[in-house]
Amino acid sequence: MPYPYQIQSMEEYQTAWKKSEEDPEGFWGEIAENFLWRKKWDKVLTWNFKEPDIKWFSGAKLNITENCLDRHLETRGNELALIWEPNNPEDHHRLLTYEQLHFKVNQFGNVLRNNGVKKGDRVCIYMGMVPELAIAVLACARVGAIHSVIFGGFSAQSISDRIQDAHAEFVITCDGSFRGAKEIPLKPIIDDALVSCPFVKRVIVLTHTHAPISMIKDRDVRWEKEIHKVENLGNPPCIPEEMDAEDMLFILYTSGSTGKPKGVVHTCGGYMVYTNYTFVNVFQYKPGELHFCTADVGWITGHSYIVYGPLSAGATTLMFEGVPTWPDAGRFWSIVDKYQVNILYTAPTAIRSLMSYGLEPLKDKKLDSLRVLGTVGEPINEEAWHWYDEHVGKKKCPIVDTWWQTETGGIMISNLAGITPSKPSYATLPLPGVHPVLVDEKGQEIVGNDVTGNLCLLGPWPSILRTTYGDHERCRLNYFNTYPGLYFTGDGCHRDEHGNYRITGRVDDVLNVSGHRLGTAEVENAINMHTDVIESAVVGYHHDIKGQGIYAFVIYGGEEDEDDFTRKAISLTVVRVIGVIARPDKIQFVKGLPKTRSGKIMRRILRKIAEGETSNLGDTSTLLDPSVVEDIAKGAIK
Ligand code: WT7
Repeated sequence: MPYPYQIQSMEEYQTAWKKSEEDPEGFWGEIAENFLWRKKWDKVLTWNFKEPDIKWFSGAKLNITENCLDRHLETRGNELALIWEPNNPEDHHRLLTYEQLHFKVNQFGNVLRNNGVKKGDRVCIYMGMVPELAIAVLACARVGAIHSVIFGGFSAQSISDRIQDAHAEFVITCDGSFRGAKEIPLKPIIDDALVSCPFVKRVIVLTHTHAPISMIKDRDVRWEKEIHKVENLGNPPCIPEEMDAEDMLFILYTSGSTGKPKGVVHTCGGYMVYTNYTFVNVFQYKPGELHFCTADVGWITGHSYIVYGPLSAGATTLMFEGVPTWPDAGRFWSIVDKYQVNILYTAPTAIRSLMSYGLEPLKDKKLDSLRVLGTVGEPINEEAWHWYDEHVGKKKCPIVDTWWQTETGGIMISNLAGITPSKPSYATLPLPGVHPVLVDEKGQEIVGNDVTGNLCLLGPWPSILRTTYGDHERCRLNYFNTYPGLYFTGDGCHRDEHGNYRITGRVDDVLNVSGHRLGTAEVENAINMHTDVIESAVVGYHHDIKGQGIYAFVIYGGEEDEDDFTRKAISLTVVRVIGVIARPDKIQFVKGLPKTRSGKIMRRILRKIAEGETSNLGDTSTLLDPSVVEDIAKGAIK
């Protein structure tokens, strides 16, 4: 058995879950024995949720890349670690065995050290989905630097905010990247971002699109030239930095209900154990299989289930540069057939978008290599679930609906493929080590089945966030203060009569647009940056493909007409401030916003209007000026 902790039956799942409840230290300590540690832990777990202060495997020493690379060299050095499929199907794909990936990570680790990167330094990575992105991430981990990957859809302003927050003195980027028919100018965006980050010492630029770019003396260097330098030294191995289990592995920025994204911090030991455990169990990975997660490494899904989970398990992971609909809507299916993908892990928004093209793109596709399908990022509607099941899985592949968050590091609630039952639109059961609790508004636990409430988690699992970078109090207030003693997820949830969990969506002011997480306050701040906007309110509304769309109510004070031209100007402002992922879908100009006497915007009413409801708006008597509601409802955009 390659993974002695791989659950084989419903009974084994129940036993594992029970053991994890009764004796979490014994449970996780035993699983952790299956990894490579320089030194074992003194204590498996110490924790309190008050501060919070959570430590897994205290005293243990390791380097996660020795677990993801070195330890596989003897057993599967010549097997594929990573397959890379380019944006354009006519370009060359790339294959890297464990030996080759190990070599490249060592080489680039040496480049980092040559450029002055040391343990604990923060490195911002802003690249497209190229193999060097995974290499850069692992090289950081090898030398003990803390990576902070930023998704390619964020603007210069957003990048600059993140680089400043993390005080990252090093940046790794590409000249540009390809996404469908588009070329994204990454280096020029970095150049703009760095105008306000004079402390950045070094920018390492990978050549990918061959677009002409600026290179600033003493700051910018080419990846390829730096590689030559270490080759000239004879490519010495890059000695892995010995890390404490609780040393930071990475920072990943994510949106909350306040205006400013926060840097979620994950640490080395617990994150490694949990992403590996969940990868092996949820997908029921079998050695030799090919795992294709379509996420971007700029999000947590890519960190955990393209890079760290699969590689620590010695799996073959497929990385795709492009988009599902280019050159045609059969792109995913062609990739599945071309490489004989066994596990396909994607987002409901991608499934719904592909559904809208009908069955034509699937016509000449076999898809018979598929064994397991997965979804992540947002609730999946039953129609999309059944389409995925019938037309992609041919009713032979279990679908795992995996609920989790940037903050949880790994999958929390999900069926285990083929082992525990699935139920359309339900994430189903908690993983071992996960104890969901539903609470009402007052924080009272809701016991029993067939109930709905706010989803909290009792006690820590190994990859729970440890802090938000540079602001521990913010972490406490955000997650551990709403319901004392519990971690609050921000999600609403239903538990059915059999104890299956169904996530119903966020109950805070966080939007989920095409699986991208955005705060309403964040989008409002960006809209308000437009010189003539007086005030705005943003809510989400049901969108057939994106899951949620962004609906903005704007009080405009400019001379211009309140028309599409002005809407465009406001949209462009948002794209400048946050990035293309935050572009509002609908902008309605209003004279006033529904506010209570204390000045609070009543979003409940705006949400209803955005959903197309114009009557039955509920009690408006507490509003300062109830007549604004009527005006807004009249002007609602369909
Ligand atoms: C939010 C977290 C987890 C990686 C990708 C998103 C929603 C996530 C599901 C699911 C229903 C889901 C939740 C959660 N979500 N997975 N299977 N069913 N909702 O990570 O950006 O941190 O967003 O995504 O609302 O809180 P994220």
